[in-house]
Amino acid sequence: MTQLKQLSQAAALCALMAAGAAHAGEVEVLHWWTSGGEAKAATALKATLQKQGHTWKDFAVAGGGGDSAMTVLKSRVVSGNAPAAAQIKGPSLQEWAAEGVLTNVDAVAKAGKWDEVIPPVVANIMKYKGHYIAAPVNVHRVNWLWVNPEALKKAGTKLPTTWDEFFVTAEALKKAGIIPVAHGGQNWQDFTVFESVALGVGGVDFYKKALVQLDPATLTGPQMEKVLTTFKRIKDYTDKNAPGRDWNLATAMVIKGEAGMQLMGDWAKGEFIAAGKTPGKDFICAAAPGTQKSFTFNIDSFALFKLKNAANEKAQQDLATAIMSPEFQELFNLNKGSIPVRTGMKMDKFDDCAKQSAADFAADAKTGTLVPSIAHGMAVPAAAEGAMKDVVSQFWNSDKMTAKDAQTRLAAAAKSK
Ligand code: GAL
Repeated sequence: MTQLKQLSQAAALCALMAAGAAHAGEVEVLHWWTSGGEAKAATALKATLQKQGHTWKDFAVAGGGGDSAMTVLKSRVVSGNAPAAAQIKGPSLQEWAAEGVLTNVDAVAKAGKWDEVIPPVVANIMKYKGHYIAAPVNVHRVNWLWVNPEALKKAGTKLPTTWDEFFVTAEALKKAGIIPVAHGGQNWQDFTVFESVALGVGGVDFYKKALVQLDPATLTGPQMEKVLTTFKRIKDYTDKNAPGRDWNLATAMVIKGEAGMQLMGDWAKGEFIAAGKTPGKDFICAAAPGTQKSFTFNIDSFALFKLKNAANEKAQQDLATAIMSPEFQELFNLNKGSIPVRTGMKMDKFDDCAKQSAADFAADAKTGTLVPSIAHGMAVPAAAEGAMKDVVSQFWNSDKMTAKDAQTRLAAAAKSK
Protein backbone atom coordinates (compact mmCIF):
# COMPACT_ATOMS: atom_id res chain seq x y z
CA MET A 1 0.00 0.00 0.00
CA THR A 2 2.70 2.43 1.10
CA GLN A 3 4.72 1.46 -1.93
CA LEU A 4 1.74 2.09 -4.17
CA LYS A 5 1.21 5.49 -2.56
CA GLN A 6 4.87 6.36 -3.06
CA LEU A 7 4.66 5.26 -6.66
CA SER A 8 1.63 7.37 -7.37
CA GLN A 9 3.24 10.31 -5.60
CA ALA A 10 6.31 9.89 -7.79
CA ALA A 11 4.11 9.69 -10.88
CA ALA A 12 2.32 12.86 -9.87
CA LEU A 13 5.65 14.59 -9.35
CA CYS A 14 6.85 13.46 -12.77
CA ALA A 15 3.68 14.76 -14.38
CA LEU A 16 4.17 18.09 -12.61
CA MET A 17 7.77 18.31 -13.73
CA ALA A 18 6.80 17.46 -17.28
CA ALA A 19 4.16 20.18 -17.20
CA GLY A 20 6.77 22.56 -15.84
CA ALA A 21 9.20 21.63 -18.57
CA ALA A 22 6.57 22.06 -21.26
CA HIS A 23 5.78 25.45 -19.79
CA ALA A 24 9.37 26.64 -19.67
CA GLY A 25 10.55 27.89 -23.02
CA GLU A 26 13.54 29.45 -24.61
CA VAL A 27 13.74 33.01 -25.83
CA GLU A 28 16.43 33.99 -28.25
CA VAL A 29 16.98 37.73 -28.10
CA LEU A 30 18.88 39.74 -30.69
CA HIS A 31 20.43 42.98 -29.45
CA TRP A 32 23.63 45.02 -29.75
CA TRP A 33 24.14 45.90 -26.12
CA THR A 34 27.75 44.94 -25.50
CA SER A 35 29.37 48.00 -23.90
CA GLY A 36 29.71 48.29 -20.08
CA GLY A 37 26.42 50.05 -19.30
CA GLU A 38 24.55 48.34 -22.11
CA ALA A 39 25.64 44.87 -21.02
CA LYS A 40 24.46 45.57 -17.46
CA ALA A 41 21.06 46.59 -18.80
CA ALA A 42 20.88 43.48 -20.99
CA THR A 43 21.69 41.35 -17.95
CA ALA A 44 18.70 42.88 -16.17
CA LEU A 45 16.47 41.74 -19.03
CA LYS A 46 17.97 38.25 -18.99
CA ALA A 47 17.52 37.93 -15.20
CA THR A 48 13.89 39.04 -15.46
CA LEU A 49 13.15 36.30 -17.95
CA GLN A 50 15.09 33.59 -16.12
CA LYS A 51 13.17 34.35 -12.92
CA GLN A 52 10.11 33.00 -14.71
CA GLY A 53 11.85 29.68 -15.41
CA HIS A 54 12.57 30.36 -19.06
CA THR A 55 15.91 30.09 -20.84
CA TRP A 56 17.61 33.12 -22.36
CA LYS A 57 19.55 32.53 -25.53
CA ASP A 58 21.79 35.51 -26.08
CA PHE A 59 22.09 36.74 -29.66
CA ALA A 60 24.32 39.79 -29.24
CA VAL A 61 25.79 41.36 -32.37
CA ALA A 62 28.33 44.02 -31.38
CA GLY A 63 28.29 47.38 -33.10
CA GLY A 64 26.91 50.66 -31.74
CA GLY A 65 23.73 51.91 -33.37
CA GLY A 66 22.85 48.37 -34.46
CA ASP A 67 23.66 48.38 -38.20
CA SER A 68 25.53 45.05 -37.98
CA ALA A 69 22.75 43.56 -35.86
CA MET A 70 20.16 44.50 -38.48
CA THR A 71 22.20 42.88 -41.27
CA VAL A 72 22.47 39.63 -39.31
CA LEU A 73 18.78 39.74 -38.45
CA LYS A 74 17.79 40.02 -42.11
CA SER A 75 19.76 36.93 -43.08
CA ARG A 76 18.32 34.94 -40.16
CA VAL A 77 14.73 35.85 -41.01
CA VAL A 78 15.22 35.20 -44.73
CA SER A 79 16.52 31.71 -43.91
CA GLY A 80 13.37 31.04 -41.86
CA ASN A 81 15.18 31.11 -38.53
CA ALA A 82 13.99 34.28 -36.79
CA PRO A 83 14.85 34.85 -33.12
CA ALA A 84 11.95 35.20 -30.66
CA ALA A 85 12.69 38.86 -30.07
CA ALA A 86 14.88 41.45 -31.75
CA GLN A 87 15.76 45.02 -30.94
CA ILE A 88 14.03 46.87 -33.78
CA LYS A 89 12.98 50.50 -33.66
CA GLY A 90 10.81 53.17 -35.20
CA PRO A 91 9.53 52.94 -38.78
CA SER A 92 11.49 49.70 -39.28
CA LEU A 93 8.95 48.00 -37.04
CA GLN A 94 6.29 48.77 -39.63
CA GLU A 95 8.51 47.47 -42.42
CA TRP A 96 9.06 44.16 -40.62
CA ALA A 97 5.38 43.83 -39.72
CA ALA A 98 4.43 44.38 -43.36
CA GLU A 99 6.56 41.32 -44.21
CA GLY A 100 4.16 39.27 -42.06
CA VAL A 101 6.88 37.90 -39.78
CA LEU A 102 5.93 39.60 -36.50
CA THR A 103 3.46 38.24 -33.98
CA ASN A 104 0.61 40.06 -32.31
CA VAL A 105 0.99 40.77 -28.58
CA ASP A 106 -2.41 42.38 -28.05
CA ALA A 107 -3.36 39.89 -25.32
CA VAL A 108 -0.28 40.81 -23.27
CA ALA A 109 -0.86 44.50 -23.96
CA LYS A 110 -4.47 44.26 -22.87
CA ALA A 111 -3.65 42.39 -19.66
CA GLY A 112 -0.90 44.91 -18.88
CA LYS A 113 -3.08 47.92 -19.84
CA TRP A 114 -0.37 49.15 -22.22
CA ASP A 115 -2.71 51.68 -23.84
CA GLU A 116 -2.98 53.41 -20.47
CA VAL A 117 0.71 53.43 -19.55
CA ILE A 118 2.50 53.97 -22.87
CA PRO A 119 2.45 57.57 -24.20
CA PRO A 120 0.51 57.68 -27.51
CA VAL A 121 3.55 58.95 -29.45
CA VAL A 122 5.29 55.70 -28.48
CA ALA A 123 2.28 53.36 -28.71
CA ASN A 124 1.77 54.36 -32.36
CA ILE A 125 5.27 53.15 -33.19
CA MET A 126 4.70 49.82 -31.40
CA LYS A 127 1.51 49.05 -33.33
CA TYR A 128 0.95 47.83 -36.86
CA LYS A 129 -2.58 48.33 -38.22
CA GLY A 130 -3.76 48.88 -34.64
CA HIS A 131 -2.11 45.76 -33.16
CA TYR A 132 0.88 45.68 -30.85
CA ILE A 133 3.83 43.92 -32.47
CA ALA A 134 6.61 45.20 -30.18
CA ALA A 135 7.30 46.08 -26.55
CA PRO A 136 9.12 49.34 -25.69
CA VAL A 137 11.82 49.36 -23.03
CA ASN A 138 12.89 52.96 -22.65
CA VAL A 139 13.22 56.52 -23.89
CA HIS A 140 16.73 57.64 -24.78
CA ARG A 141 17.46 61.32 -25.38
CA VAL A 142 19.98 61.88 -28.12
CA ASN A 143 20.67 65.64 -27.91
CA TRP A 144 23.09 65.57 -24.99
CA LEU A 145 26.55 66.98 -24.43
CA TRP A 146 28.72 65.01 -21.95
CA VAL A 147 31.39 67.04 -20.25
CA ASN A 148 34.31 66.48 -17.90
CA PRO A 149 34.14 69.45 -15.45
CA GLU A 150 37.75 68.98 -14.35
CA ALA A 151 38.87 69.44 -17.97
CA LEU A 152 36.86 72.67 -18.25
CA LYS A 153 38.47 73.90 -15.06
CA LYS A 154 41.97 73.09 -16.27
CA ALA A 155 41.29 74.95 -19.50
CA GLY A 156 39.71 77.88 -17.63
CA THR A 157 36.58 77.66 -19.74
CA LYS A 158 32.87 77.07 -19.24
CA LEU A 159 30.03 74.81 -20.26
CA PRO A 160 28.81 75.92 -23.69
CA THR A 161 25.11 76.57 -24.29
CA THR A 162 25.29 77.81 -27.89
CA TRP A 163 27.34 76.66 -30.87
CA ASP A 164 29.40 79.86 -30.76
CA GLU A 165 30.27 79.10 -27.14
CA PHE A 166 30.96 75.49 -28.04
CA PHE A 167 33.81 76.52 -30.33
CA VAL A 168 35.20 78.94 -27.73
CA THR A 169 35.25 76.12 -25.18
CA ALA A 170 36.75 73.70 -27.72
CA GLU A 171 39.52 76.19 -28.52
CA ALA A 172 40.34 76.67 -24.82
CA LEU A 173 40.50 72.88 -24.27
CA LYS A 174 42.80 72.52 -27.26
CA LYS A 175 45.15 75.19 -25.90
CA ALA A 176 45.23 73.36 -22.56
CA GLY A 177 46.38 70.17 -24.32
CA ILE A 178 43.06 68.35 -23.87
CA ILE A 179 41.27 66.73 -26.83
CA PRO A 180 38.22 68.99 -27.09
CA VAL A 181 35.76 66.49 -28.58
CA ALA A 182 35.80 62.72 -28.08
CA HIS A 183 34.48 61.19 -31.25
CA GLY A 184 34.31 57.84 -32.94
CA GLY A 185 34.40 58.13 -36.71
CA GLN A 186 31.71 55.59 -37.57
CA ASN A 187 28.86 56.72 -39.77
CA TRP A 188 26.15 56.41 -37.12
CA GLN A 189 28.23 58.48 -34.69
CA ASP A 190 28.84 61.15 -37.33
CA PHE A 191 25.09 61.18 -37.96
CA THR A 192 24.33 61.42 -34.23
CA VAL A 193 26.50 64.55 -33.95
CA PHE A 194 24.99 65.91 -37.16
CA GLU A 195 21.40 65.68 -35.95
CA SER A 196 22.23 67.53 -32.72
CA VAL A 197 23.89 70.29 -34.75
CA ALA A 198 20.84 70.39 -37.05
CA LEU A 199 18.52 70.78 -34.08
CA GLY A 200 20.70 73.38 -32.35
CA VAL A 201 21.55 75.48 -35.39
CA GLY A 202 18.31 75.11 -37.34
CA GLY A 203 15.72 74.71 -34.58
CA VAL A 204 12.76 72.37 -34.24
CA ASP A 205 10.76 73.42 -37.32
CA PHE A 206 13.81 73.14 -39.52
CA TYR A 207 14.65 69.73 -38.05
CA LYS A 208 11.15 68.44 -38.71
CA LYS A 209 11.06 69.74 -42.28
CA ALA A 210 14.56 68.57 -43.20
CA LEU A 211 15.02 65.36 -41.26
CA VAL A 212 11.51 64.02 -40.69
CA GLN A 213 9.53 65.23 -43.71
CA LEU A 214 12.65 65.19 -45.93
CA ASP A 215 11.54 68.37 -47.67
CA PRO A 216 13.88 68.88 -50.67
CA ALA A 217 13.82 72.69 -50.47
CA THR A 218 14.84 72.61 -46.81
CA LEU A 219 17.54 70.02 -47.43
CA THR A 220 19.07 72.20 -50.14
CA GLY A 221 18.37 75.55 -48.45
CA PRO A 222 20.64 78.03 -46.63
CA GLN A 223 19.94 76.74 -43.11
CA MET A 224 21.18 73.28 -44.03
CA GLU A 225 24.32 74.82 -45.43
CA LYS A 226 24.93 76.48 -42.07
CA VAL A 227 24.25 73.20 -40.26
CA LEU A 228 26.73 71.30 -42.42
CA THR A 229 29.41 73.98 -42.06
CA THR A 230 29.03 74.04 -38.28
CA PHE A 231 29.08 70.24 -38.16
CA LYS A 232 32.30 70.07 -40.17
CA ARG A 233 33.99 72.63 -37.91
CA ILE A 234 33.71 70.15 -35.03
CA LYS A 235 36.09 67.78 -36.83
CA ASP A 236 39.01 70.15 -36.19
CA TYR A 237 38.54 69.49 -32.49
CA THR A 238 38.61 65.69 -32.64
CA ASP A 239 41.84 63.65 -32.45
CA LYS A 240 43.59 61.76 -35.22
CA ASN A 241 42.60 58.38 -33.77
CA ALA A 242 38.89 59.12 -34.07
CA PRO A 243 38.26 57.12 -37.28
CA GLY A 244 36.62 53.80 -36.48
CA ARG A 245 36.66 54.30 -32.70
CA ASP A 246 33.71 52.79 -30.79
CA TRP A 247 31.42 55.25 -29.04
CA ASN A 248 32.03 53.83 -25.58
CA LEU A 249 35.80 54.27 -26.01
CA ALA A 250 35.11 57.91 -26.86
CA THR A 251 33.04 58.18 -23.66
CA ALA A 252 35.93 56.62 -21.74
CA MET A 253 38.14 59.49 -22.94
CA VAL A 254 35.78 61.99 -21.31
CA ILE A 255 35.55 59.84 -18.18
CA LYS A 256 39.36 59.87 -17.88
CA GLY A 257 39.69 63.56 -18.71
CA GLU A 258 41.69 62.89 -21.89
CA ALA A 259 38.88 64.64 -23.74
CA GLY A 260 36.58 67.42 -22.60
CA MET A 261 33.25 66.77 -24.34
CA GLN A 262 31.23 64.22 -26.30
CA LEU A 263 28.02 64.66 -28.27
CA MET A 264 26.11 61.42 -27.76
CA GLY A 265 22.79 59.99 -26.59
CA ASP A 266 22.31 59.07 -22.95
CA TRP A 267 23.48 55.49 -23.37
CA ALA A 268 26.80 57.32 -22.72
CA LYS A 269 25.55 57.95 -19.18
CA GLY A 270 25.40 54.17 -18.72
CA GLU A 271 29.18 54.17 -19.22
CA PHE A 272 29.80 56.94 -16.67
CA ILE A 273 27.59 55.12 -14.16
CA ALA A 274 29.22 51.74 -14.84
CA ALA A 275 32.57 53.46 -14.14
CA GLY A 276 31.23 54.58 -10.75
CA LYS A 277 30.95 58.27 -11.69
CA THR A 278 28.38 60.70 -10.30
CA PRO A 279 26.53 63.23 -12.45
CA GLY A 280 26.98 66.85 -11.41
CA LYS A 281 30.26 65.96 -9.71
CA ASP A 282 32.41 63.78 -11.96
CA PHE A 283 30.61 64.57 -15.17
CA ILE A 284 28.03 66.98 -16.54
CA CYS A 285 25.07 66.15 -18.74
CA ALA A 286 23.79 69.19 -20.62
CA ALA A 287 21.54 69.65 -23.62
CA ALA A 288 23.58 69.86 -26.82
CA PRO A 289 24.22 73.56 -27.66
CA GLY A 290 21.08 75.40 -28.70
CA THR A 291 18.78 72.42 -28.01
CA GLN A 292 17.74 73.16 -24.43
CA LYS A 293 14.08 73.47 -25.34
CA SER A 294 13.81 70.38 -27.49
CA PHE A 295 14.28 66.65 -27.28
CA THR A 296 15.36 64.09 -29.88
CA PHE A 297 13.87 60.80 -28.77
CA ASN A 298 15.15 57.29 -29.43
CA ILE A 299 13.02 54.44 -28.14
CA ASP A 300 14.44 50.96 -27.85
CA SER A 301 11.91 48.23 -28.40
CA PHE A 302 11.72 44.51 -28.96
CA ALA A 303 9.78 43.19 -31.89
CA LEU A 304 8.34 39.73 -31.37
CA PHE A 305 8.65 37.24 -34.24
CA LYS A 306 6.22 34.46 -35.14
CA LEU A 307 7.42 31.17 -33.65
CA LYS A 308 6.52 27.54 -34.20
CA ASN A 309 6.95 26.12 -30.67
CA ALA A 310 4.18 26.67 -28.08
CA ALA A 311 6.51 26.72 -25.05
CA ASN A 312 8.74 29.28 -26.72
CA GLU A 313 5.71 31.34 -27.66
CA LYS A 314 4.67 31.38 -24.02
CA ALA A 315 8.18 32.43 -22.98
CA GLN A 316 8.09 35.17 -25.60
CA GLN A 317 4.78 36.52 -24.28
CA ASP A 318 6.20 36.41 -20.74
CA LEU A 319 9.16 38.46 -21.96
CA ALA A 320 6.80 41.09 -23.36
CA THR A 321 4.90 41.18 -20.06
CA ALA A 322 8.13 41.52 -18.09
CA ILE A 323 9.47 44.33 -20.27
CA MET A 324 6.56 46.57 -19.39
CA SER A 325 6.58 45.76 -15.65
CA PRO A 326 7.47 48.71 -13.38
CA GLU A 327 10.23 46.67 -11.67
CA PHE A 328 11.97 45.92 -14.94
CA GLN A 329 11.53 49.42 -16.31
CA GLU A 330 13.27 50.80 -13.24
CA LEU A 331 16.15 48.34 -13.04
CA PHE A 332 16.87 48.34 -16.75
CA ASN A 333 16.84 52.10 -17.19
CA LEU A 334 18.97 52.78 -14.11
CA ASN A 335 21.72 50.89 -15.95
CA LYS A 336 21.00 51.94 -19.51
CA GLY A 337 21.11 55.72 -19.03
CA SER A 338 17.60 56.12 -20.44
CA ILE A 339 14.29 56.75 -18.68
CA PRO A 340 11.33 54.39 -18.33
CA VAL A 341 8.90 54.49 -21.22
CA ARG A 342 6.09 53.61 -18.83
CA THR A 343 4.29 56.68 -17.52
CA GLY A 344 3.63 57.29 -13.84
CA MET A 345 6.89 55.71 -12.69
CA LYS A 346 8.58 56.93 -9.52
CA MET A 347 11.87 58.59 -10.42
CA ASP A 348 13.36 58.80 -6.91
CA LYS A 349 16.10 56.25 -7.59
CA PHE A 350 17.15 58.04 -10.80
CA ASP A 351 19.90 60.66 -11.04
CA ASP A 352 19.51 64.30 -12.03
CA CYS A 353 20.21 63.68 -15.73
CA ALA A 354 17.37 61.15 -15.90
CA LYS A 355 15.07 63.43 -13.90
CA GLN A 356 15.78 66.28 -16.30
CA SER A 357 15.21 63.99 -19.25
CA ALA A 358 11.86 62.82 -17.86
CA ALA A 359 10.71 66.40 -17.16
CA ASP A 360 11.84 67.60 -20.58
CA PHE A 361 10.22 64.64 -22.37
CA ALA A 362 6.87 65.54 -20.81
CA ALA A 363 7.29 69.29 -21.43
CA ASP A 364 8.47 68.88 -25.03
CA ALA A 365 5.62 66.47 -25.78
CA LYS A 366 3.23 69.28 -24.79
CA THR A 367 4.94 72.04 -26.75
CA GLY A 368 5.53 69.98 -29.91
CA THR A 369 9.31 70.19 -29.51
CA LEU A 370 9.75 66.44 -29.14
CA VAL A 371 11.32 65.17 -32.36
CA PRO A 372 12.30 61.67 -33.51
CA SER A 373 16.01 60.91 -33.88
CA ILE A 374 16.93 60.32 -37.52
CA ALA A 375 20.31 58.83 -36.59
CA HIS A 376 18.65 56.20 -34.41
CA GLY A 377 16.00 54.89 -36.70
CA MET A 378 13.06 56.87 -35.37
CA ALA A 379 12.32 59.41 -38.08
CA VAL A 380 12.42 58.05 -41.63
CA PRO A 381 12.42 54.69 -43.45
CA ALA A 382 15.65 52.68 -43.12
CA ALA A 383 16.67 53.11 -46.78
CA ALA A 384 16.58 56.93 -46.65
CA GLU A 385 18.26 56.96 -43.25
CA GLY A 386 21.11 54.72 -44.43
CA ALA A 387 21.74 56.73 -47.59
CA MET A 388 21.68 60.09 -45.78
CA LYS A 389 23.93 58.75 -43.04
CA ASP A 390 26.49 57.80 -45.69
CA VAL A 391 26.39 61.26 -47.28
CA VAL A 392 26.95 62.94 -43.92
CA SER A 393 29.97 60.72 -43.21
CA GLN A 394 31.39 61.26 -46.70
CA PHE A 395 31.13 65.00 -46.11
CA TRP A 396 32.77 64.68 -42.68
CA ASN A 397 35.66 62.67 -44.12
CA SER A 398 36.21 64.51 -47.38
CA ASP A 399 38.57 67.42 -47.89
CA LYS A 400 36.94 68.28 -51.19
CA MET A 401 33.17 68.00 -50.80
CA THR A 402 31.54 71.39 -50.21
CA ALA A 403 28.48 71.85 -48.02
CA LYS A 404 26.54 72.65 -51.20
CA ASP A 405 27.64 69.35 -52.80
CA ALA A 406 26.62 67.50 -49.66
CA GLN A 407 23.21 69.17 -49.75
CA THR A 408 22.53 68.01 -53.30
CA ARG A 409 23.55 64.49 -52.35
CA LEU A 410 21.47 64.58 -49.17
CA ALA A 411 18.35 65.54 -51.08
CA ALA A 412 18.95 62.66 -53.51
CA ALA A 413 19.65 60.21 -50.69
CA ALA A 414 16.41 61.21 -48.97
CA LYS A 415 14.51 59.74 -51.93
CA SER A 416 16.03 56.24 -51.42
CA LYS A 417 13.43 53.52 -51.10
C1 GAL B 1 21.21 53.13 -30.14
C2 GAL B 1 20.36 52.35 -29.19
C3 GAL B 1 20.87 52.50 -27.82
C4 GAL B 1 22.36 52.32 -27.71
C5 GAL B 1 23.12 52.94 -28.87
C6 GAL B 1 24.58 52.56 -28.96
O1 GAL B 1 20.72 53.04 -31.43
O2 GAL B 1 19.05 52.82 -29.25
O3 GAL B 1 20.17 51.62 -26.98
O4 GAL B 1 22.63 51.00 -27.57
O5 GAL B 1 22.53 52.66 -30.09
O6 GAL B 1 24.76 51.21 -29.24
